[in-house]
Amino acid sequence: MINRKDKTDTAAIYGSAFPVILGPMAGVTDLAFRLLCREQGCDVVVTEMISAKALYYGNKNTIPLMQTDEREAPVGVQIFGSEPELMGQMAHKIEDRGFAFIDINMGCPVPKIVNNHEGSALMKQPELAGRIVSEVKRAVSLPVTVKFRLGFDEEHKNAVEFAKVLEDSGADALAVHGRTREQYYSGRADWEAIRQVKEAVRVPVIANGDIYSGADALAIREKTGCDGIMVARGSKGNPWIFREIKAALAGEPVPAEPTARERVEMLLRHAALCVEYKGEYTGIREMRKHAAWYTTGLRDSSRLRQEVNQVTTLRELEQLLESAAEGGER
Ligand SMILES: Cc1cc2nc3c(=O)[nH]c(=O)nc-3n(C[C@H](O)[C@H](O)[C@H](O)COP(=O)(O)O)c2cc1C
Repeated sequence: MINRKDKTDTAAIYGSAFPVILGPMAGVTDLAFRLLCREQGCDVVVTEMISAKALYYGNKNTIPLMQTDEREAPVGVQIFGSEPELMGQMAHKIEDRGFAFIDINMGCPVPKIVNNHEGSALMKQPELAGRIVSEVKRAVSLPVTVKFRLGFDEEHKNAVEFAKVLEDSGADALAVHGRTREQYYSGRADWEAIRQVKEAVRVPVIANGDIYSGADALAIREKTGCDGIMVARGSKGNPWIFREIKAALAGEPVPAEPTARERVEMLLRHAALCVEYKGEYTGIREMRKHAAWYTTGLRDSSRLRQEVNQVTTLRELEQLLESAAEGGER
């Protein structure tokens, strides 16, 4: 199937002409965090990756991963797997849960996933990857997007050909992380290689990799000619990155850095949401890593981190952080 689109599709899929998207991060981008990023100006969010096989077997761990709320819309749901029919069936099963699009993960580098021929392993099998896209496309009425890397390793950098296969199979937009699977997260993302993908296809291309500031957002837009950008690690403990990026893209002055008090307040709101959605036991434990990110740079942050790791209730966390907010920056 040949699928030729023009640029207006960016808005049709993501709801904005040049979307700034929160990249999916397993263990990080849950509903609580996504809501805070949306509040800070992020245009579009995506769930953590969800296994099609786990969905098929009714694994109860997939339920919290699909949790959504109309306040975070538009939100895409990301699925992964290697069996075209199963992927189509599962995409169909979850498509009416309030998601704006179905995103297929073809970039995950983790051995457990790759050894199952899933995630970035699909970059070694473009034909199979294309069949997955066609099946999912056939099974759902939502837009279907794909997230992938530059290739499997340095010797197999096939992002351009891969992108064409996905486009011809019906993908509505593509997000490209400018690294190979072999690189994991090391080295610098190759934005020039993202430009080559952008020039090779007509569907919208979202550029991803190493955006940590408003200036980076302007630079990647300029360098790649992309139709939108995706920010992942730069948002950890820092949902304010989205207000900075939106200001930069609009040509407005860079907003002030959050103060120590604002960081503590955000962390506590994050914790309250996490507890609301996951219960106090799980919510507080999951907050520990976020707390470490939010408090980087605060006075005595390493001692504070140790103390946060002992806390088991929201009340204790609030009491602990009150004094940290008084302490201010280092
Ligand atoms: C902890 C962590 C978890 C991730 N989980 C996913 C995931 O579930 N699905 C996915 O497509 N990418 C995942 N990624 C990759 C990011 O979405 C993104 O492509 C990558 O981090 C590069 O963007 P960045 O430089 O803005 O972080 C993950 C990255 C990290 C650091």
